[in-house]
Amino acid sequence: MRPIIITLDGYSSCGKSTLARQLANQLNYVFIDSGAMYRAITLYFLRQHIDWNNAARVKKALSGITLYFQYNPITGQSDMFLNDENTEALIRDMLVSEHVSEVAAIKEVREFAVAQQQKMGEKKGIVMDGRDIGTTVFPNAELKIFVTADPAIRVERRFKELYERNPNITIEEVKNNLEMRDYIDSNREFSPLRQAADAIVLDNSNLTREEQLAIALEWAKEKMI
Ligand code: DC
Repeated sequence: MRPIIITLDGYSSCGKSTLARQLANQLNYVFIDSGAMYRAITLYFLRQHIDWNNAARVKKALSGITLYFQYNPITGQSDMFLNDENTEALIRDMLVSEHVSEVAAIKEVREFAVAQQQKMGEKKGIVMDGRDIGTTVFPNAELKIFVTADPAIRVERRFKELYERNPNITIEEVKNNLEMRDYIDSNREFSPLRQAADAIVLDNSNLTREEQLAIALEWAKEKMI
């Protein structure tokens, strides 16, 4: 079977990363959560008090950032490293979530992240999830999936996930954050979130994880022949 590139795009918290990780496990492919890269850059900008409306400051700051993923044998997943620091837990915080869409909308930030993502896919055998993976990062990917889910279900899922780490979080906060991110991600000037013309839609509102994995695996296998 030939190695292929699989892209998963869609709105915030519709289960893209979970599905992408499972697919990669089943196929023995590399899994890349591209959102983690934008989150790590945002964390760096917040910590260093970078004025991200200033393109020159942004460029200079990016030159001080090294990003890589490293396998964590305890969780069995890849953690996001920022300048040799494991930032996996920090980048999922609400503070980063509140600013990541603004940072991800910056042209220089996108160029920086996209160049690295494209390099990761040079040998194929990769599953990457994000917002512009099928449109900008890998426009020639063999399989493009556009994942959707009912907005109320997405809020519920995200709330459950965050509540485990922060019991003070409210469902309103989560809902507002998702709506704001979806709006900014879909309306930004550079590489907005769009369904690629040749993407297949997977609505997982009423599917279990096992069911959606089975569907995606079927599609992948058809493309690998
Ligand atoms: O997938 P996520 O929710 O962790 O992504 C965090 C943010 O990063 C999201 O609000 C939009 C941005 N992002 C992006 O602009 N392009 C990508 N390929 C992935 C994420």
